[in-house]
Amino acid sequence: MNDFVFHIPTKMYFGRQCLDKLSSEMKGSGSRVLIVYGGGSVVRSGLLGRIKDQLRDDFTVFEHSGIEPNPKIGSIRIGADLCKEKDIDMILAVGGGSVIDASKAIAAGACVDFDPWEFYGGPRRPIEKALPLYTVVTMASTGSEMTCGAVISNDETCEKLGRGGFPVFPKASFLDPQLTFSVPRFQTAAGAADILSHVMESYFKKDVDFFMLDRMMEGVMKTVIVNARIALDDPENYEARGNLMWAASWAINGLFGGGSRQVWSCHPIEHELSARYDMTHGLGLAIIMPKWMRYCMKTDPETCSKIRDFGAAVFGASDENEAIAKLEDFLYGDLGLASSLSAAGIENIDAADMAASICKKGNINGYLPLDETAVTEILEACI
Ligand code: NZQ
Ligand code: ZN
Repeated sequence: MNDFVFHIPTKMYFGRQCLDKLSSEMKGSGSRVLIVYGGGSVVRSGLLGRIKDQLRDDFTVFEHSGIEPNPKIGSIRIGADLCKEKDIDMILAVGGGSVIDASKAIAAGACVDFDPWEFYGGPRRPIEKALPLYTVVTMASTGSEMTCGAVISNDETCEKLGRGGFPVFPKASFLDPQLTFSVPRFQTAAGAADILSHVMESYFKKDVDFFMLDRMMEGVMKTVIVNARIALDDPENYEARGNLMWAASWAINGLFGGGSRQVWSCHPIEHELSARYDMTHGLGLAIIMPKWMRYCMKTDPETCSKIRDFGAAVFGASDENEAIAKLEDFLYGDLGLASSLSAAGIENIDAADMAASICKKGNINGYLPLDETAVTEILEACI
């Protein structure tokens, strides 16, 4: 066990009635609110209207819409400028991970006089200050509602990079599973794959042995598998949507890290796919994960025992090969996600060039160290 500090300052509201508390919770942060949302799902569902009705009496409301899936730095710049121009006190993100991530970057960008991309690329300036952020979550996936990380893409440099800072932890997040009933089948599946991957990235580690956390992670992975299947068959099943939603928040909030300093393996590879092909994050991970596990088994047979533990606990598999086969059945069968890049419509990738870009600041020092050759091999297996 390593030493660690676990500190999440975000107040989590969960359940059918949780939105009733939105305006009273936000009152402590001022009166001028920028609501940030995406391509319109929250308009179509009526959620935006409900929220504006609730805020009308106590707040002056401004809007910044059109945040893209895989949010782009251009939207962040516009949002940060709007905050300065309108003297915004706080931000309310209403949407999935892309909207929440964009809102974090806007909240930080509003407090500085330099280009918000400088948090990410170039000097990678620290996030020292941000406007207060509140989130209403509409999708179970990234867990951004309970973390201080935000992933942003830059079209000009073809980069997708993550950045974190304590000031961008949401002050409060509101999770009503009913808001996820309308998430389309593909996004439900991609979200489930993302949650599963977040847990797996922590589960497969070498620097920490933590019995309690391993058993908790197995429970969360099982939760995702059981409830994703139900939610796909019955999209308005509150229990299934609720389990996925709460699993998403806990999969990535630092609990499962347990003091580990090991970096994640599949996420940096996927972020390169999203940067180049605007790929849906969870789909990219679903393609990569089993190939990465096979690479681990082949390269270092010692990894087989943890893959066996995973398979036995999560799928009732009897050995490491069955563990991966059952994971594939879940991702490509139950979730219906594409099993390869070509099946996802991505042809002619230059795996070596992508690997060079992924490793340009150093190898991936994950469960197994991955250099350019290793990343190339994993990507080639994904083609
Ligand atoms: O834009 P709108 O119209 O709202 O539609 C969205 C979007 O098209 C739609 N959607 C969301 N809630 C809905 C809904 N449609 C109908 N009903 C609802 N209730 O779903 C689509 C995808 O939304 P998006 O926010 O992009 O999905 P997700 O939550 O998976 O976020 C993905 C982004 O988060 C990053 C990913 O890389 C990607 O950019 N990540 C952020 C992390 C973090 N902050 O820690 C970690 C993750 O590993 C990940 O990298
Ligand atoms: Zn992810």
